Amino acid sequence: MRVLVIGSGGREHALAHALARSPSVDEVIGAPGNPGIATLGPCLPVAAADPGAVADLADEVSAGLVVVGPEVPLVAGVVDAVEARGRLAFGPRAAAAQLEGSKAWMKDVLHEAGVPTARYGVFANDSNGRGGEAAALNFLDTMGGLYVVKTDGLAAGKGVVVTTDRGEAREAVRAYLSGKAFGDAGRTVVIEEGLSGPELSLLVLCDGRDAVPLAPAQDFKRIGDGDAGPNTGGMGAYSPVPLVAPDVVEEVMAKAVAPTLETLGRRGAPYRGVLYAGIMLTPDGPKILEYNVRFGDPECQVVIPRLASDLGAHLAEAAAGRLATPLQWRDEAAVTVVLASEGYPAAPRTGDVITGLEAAAAVEGVTVFHAGTVSGDHPGEPGSSGEIRTAGGRVLNVTALGATLAEARARAYAAAACISWPGMQYRRDIAGAAAGDPGSGGAS
Ligand code: AMP
Ligand code: GLY
Repeated sequence: MRVLVIGSGGREHALAHALARSPSVDEVIGAPGNPGIATLGPCLPVAAADPGAVADLADEVSAGLVVVGPEVPLVAGVVDAVEARGRLAFGPRAAAAQLEGSKAWMKDVLHEAGVPTARYGVFANDSNGRGGEAAALNFLDTMGGLYVVKTDGLAAGKGVVVTTDRGEAREAVRAYLSGKAFGDAGRTVVIEEGLSGPELSLLVLCDGRDAVPLAPAQDFKRIGDGDAGPNTGGMGAYSPVPLVAPDVVEEVMAKAVAPTLETLGRRGAPYRGVLYAGIMLTPDGPKILEYNVRFGDPECQVVIPRLASDLGAHLAEAAAGRLATPLQWRDEAAVTVVLASEGYPAAPRTGDVITGLEAAAAVEGVTVFHAGTVSGDHPGEPGSSGEIRTAGGRVLNVTALGATLAEARARAYAAAACISWPGMQYRRDIAGAAAGDPGSGGAS
């Protein structure tokens, strides 16, 4: 099977890495890919969010399977377009991808399915630009001391404000509804009751009928140690998660995932692909914070390296609507530390030369997944010779396997210490508490 992986981040590098090692896979092609993916197979340019362009490329390379990494192409209908050419595509079609494309739609599905989730309201201005703001601000005042304001549409993981400062929450409502903060994505806002408790990411493989959970992971969303500062796309992750008993996964599958899949089916949007459940373990039990319609990034970078069975076979089976091969897991734990550019998440500085990649990769158990990098003198042309430079906010994911979380963590940080560029930043407390390091802050 020849597999075309759509995307250019650390998640896609981790998927390509496992696919290249899958017995069912002969060749991996990245599009557009990145310098890490280019070490595994050819990388071809493509406008990833253009369904017709991706379907044309799949035809050109005779892809046996197209794996779509990021949410934007999924929401745009890339899977629909590839399937229309008679090819297998892993990921939900546009109708089901609305789960991530619109938080208001997602909350409506959760409500209909009776899934435990935060109380919420949805607000938008009318065509004269009025009405929504006053109602939204009134609703905000009915919330307890923790205010949660979200853009309805996609905002690269940055459209969520969680704050105890009522003024900040009101300011977010105004900036979102006016279109100033996130353009059209924010013109509808979702306001939620603030929940608290540890968070868990559960990735679930779905074939439209059956659903199989992958190993749970925990992500660190805030930029700074001890969960300080703004939300990011994710600054690190680890798996397994010791605080999660197996019955929690069963409970989430029974009370959240199953009714959600049933509701989607009833709405004519059956779900195939990976469903990412963002869960908060509240004192009242697990509640769904959100669904995403793709592998988490960086959760994928710790979950997939722990998979011992054939990833290519699992993804092809899910895409074809019949999961059959049992999943097998390694005993090892995994930790990934995200190395980010100065100024991330607000305004990342790019173009700096990265040193130490080889030394980092030589640390036992370590793989360095590329995210925001370019190589050579021709930025945007993965695979050209020469130095590797920074090209985004989240630049590298230093991932380590180890016999225990503590060993994986020590290896990941030893490798991270080999790498540098001007302004590089990373959290020092990833997996610290879970690995038993008393000096580390709590997990987000
Ligand atoms: P989301 O993109 O909806 O997962 O939100 C991003 C992050 O914001 C989550 O991982 C949580 O840390 C936080 N968050 C989202 N919704 C809530 C909520 N209702 N209460 C408390 N924190 C939340
Ligand atoms: N790590 C969070 C996400 O992928 O949305």
